[in-house]
Amino acid sequence: FPLEDSGSVELADGIRNLGFQDADVVTDFPPHSSPRDAVERKESAAEIDDSVYAQVEPYAGMPKEVLLLYSSQARYRVPREVLFWLTVCCTLALVAVTVAIIALSPPCLGWWQISPVYQVYPRSFKDSNGDGVGDLRGIKEKLDHFHSLNIKSIWISPFYRSPMKDFGYDVEDFRDVDPLFGTMEDFEELLAEMHKNGLKLIMDFIPNHSSDRHRWFNLSRTRDPLYEDYYVWADCNATKKPNNWVSIFGNSSWTYDEVRGQCYLHQFLKEQPDLNMRNPAVRKEIIDIIHFWLSKGVDGFRMDAVKHMLEATHLRDEPQVDPNKPPEEVTTEWDLFHDYTTSQVGLHDILREFRAEMEPYSREPGKYRFMVTESYDYEEVEKTMMYYGTPLVKESDFPFNFYLLDLPQNASGLWAKHLVDLWMSNMPRGKWPNWVVGNHDRSRIASSAGKMYVGVINMLLLTLPGTPTTYYGEEIGMENINITSNSRDPQRSPMQWNSDMNAGFNNLTNITWLPVHPDYKSVNVEVQKDSEGSTMFQYNFLNSLRQAELPFLRGWFCYVQADANIFSYLRELDGHKEAYLMVLNFGKQSATTDLSSVRELPDQLKVLMSTNSTNNGKVFQKSGIQTAAGEGLVIRYSTYTRFHPSHSTECYVSEKACYLDTVGILYKC
Ligand code: GLC
Repeated sequence: FPLEDSGSVELADGIRNLGFQDADVVTDFPPHSSPRDAVERKESAAEIDDSVYAQVEPYAGMPKEVLLLYSSQARYRVPREVLFWLTVCCTLALVAVTVAIIALSPPCLGWWQISPVYQVYPRSFKDSNGDGVGDLRGIKEKLDHFHSLNIKSIWISPFYRSPMKDFGYDVEDFRDVDPLFGTMEDFEELLAEMHKNGLKLIMDFIPNHSSDRHRWFNLSRTRDPLYEDYYVWADCNATKKPNNWVSIFGNSSWTYDEVRGQCYLHQFLKEQPDLNMRNPAVRKEIIDIIHFWLSKGVDGFRMDAVKHMLEATHLRDEPQVDPNKPPEEVTTEWDLFHDYTTSQVGLHDILREFRAEMEPYSREPGKYRFMVTESYDYEEVEKTMMYYGTPLVKESDFPFNFYLLDLPQNASGLWAKHLVDLWMSNMPRGKWPNWVVGNHDRSRIASSAGKMYVGVINMLLLTLPGTPTTYYGEEIGMENINITSNSRDPQRSPMQWNSDMNAGFNNLTNITWLPVHPDYKSVNVEVQKDSEGSTMFQYNFLNSLRQAELPFLRGWFCYVQADANIFSYLRELDGHKEAYLMVLNFGKQSATTDLSSVRELPDQLKVLMSTNSTNNGKVFQKSGIQTAAGEGLVIRYSTYTRFHPSHSTECYVSEKACYLDTVGILYKC
């Protein structure tokens, strides 16, 4: 728009805006000053007399300079500034609230913490093709079982291609599925179906050894330059072994190989040569395999036999437990101190390297990849704890806690407390516990402890803090089969699904790779599912309670009482009114427990669940809680008076959290 000397504005169509010309201060421009100067002057000066605008109506298409004049009037400027600062304040407040919420909220629990880990032994779970051996399609057919048990994390024992000398723990090809179990397509379908149903798949992973039929071993024994050092070789001859080391399965852990003219090390069967983990090329192979399965989408690994991954390179004899024993009688694992064949320096670096390789996959939203390590360290619990890693370097999410496997040996309340405390008092601060009461290597609970203790042991497992592990069949109280064998087969018999042929394990033919237990007509999933008081019903109840009630997942765990029969403890959460008292009788006799000195407990205690269902709902005075041998009680009570503040040495919590009852949220406290 051409501006005239007077400073008035010529509109595009040549019509003059009279109001503008007459009333606006623009006409007061001193000679030779530009309209822009005028605008700036007016912008900076608060002394504009608002009345001069009164006669002028803003109009569409007004030029910027004019607009600026209007917008600097107090009636526009003030609300604008108010709105501006309001926006700034709201944004800051939002940021502050977000930061506060993040800082005050305890971290969410991961899938591997919320659900129990259920172990499927694939040979024995469900046979879909009638060959008598369970398979991957069979597992897929039975996913409903996990749903009905409220279990989300499934560990499947090895299904790699294998000559099956150790039923899959002797791997011939780490990237293939054994035809006995199906095909890679079956695996992919199973995984997809599991994910569709919100289930996580944990694979068994065997870094310590391969099968002697693995391609690497053949190339190593023929001294292919690339593979020569893939295994642990030492000079020897057919009669003179390199040293006194013995295998876990008995006798020398060295076998002479005629092809290479040297001995190779095997800490398990002679068909399971130990990989040479000191060789970076071998570690690289293992890492590639980890990537292979993670890219397929598996949710985690159970790392097998990790303490055996390195051996001392000096190959000295291990010290004998009984120095007077003639060396030729030193044939079992228990005859030696395994100073040179287990838990060697560098072992944790290897596992941490594996873990680091898994981490990028965990960053995908909702796809945390989990690692659990298997290491039996017996009385050296501090060695097991090292697998938790450090606050700065991640290793396994937890090492398997095998100590409860010893419960049946000496069943009593004191023994139960001792075994639980072994873990709780040695576990690094803030770490997450876990509990194993059975697996494919150990006798079933019903056989080792006795049938009457199955319920109370499951109750212990599902009410302790941390992740429970359940070996298939323990949820219905299966027993070992009675076969004359010193193998681990008795605890690996076919899963008992129903009262049909082969207990429903194989519906097509009358073959099963191991006999079905004769009790299958009464001990099976179908019969127990809806029968109140059955092992499975109780398992289900306790597992649902554990996942629904915050004190079990996030609360304090405190010892209350332990004696020859009873182990009693409670679970509570600050701010949460409901708390739980467990009274478990592991002894051989009935007991009356007097908890009248525990002032935090109300006088009357009502049983929420007993392993003897006729006692559900029963009310006890706290001075006389009765339990039969093998009976366990879960008692729910209401109070805001907490036990842990005055018994801090008797209580543990993984990550402190409190509950804000009024709004129903958890916060760090
Ligand atoms: C683990 C397995 C066991 C196997 C051994 C060798 O301990 O649980 O079944 O025999 O490793 O792989």
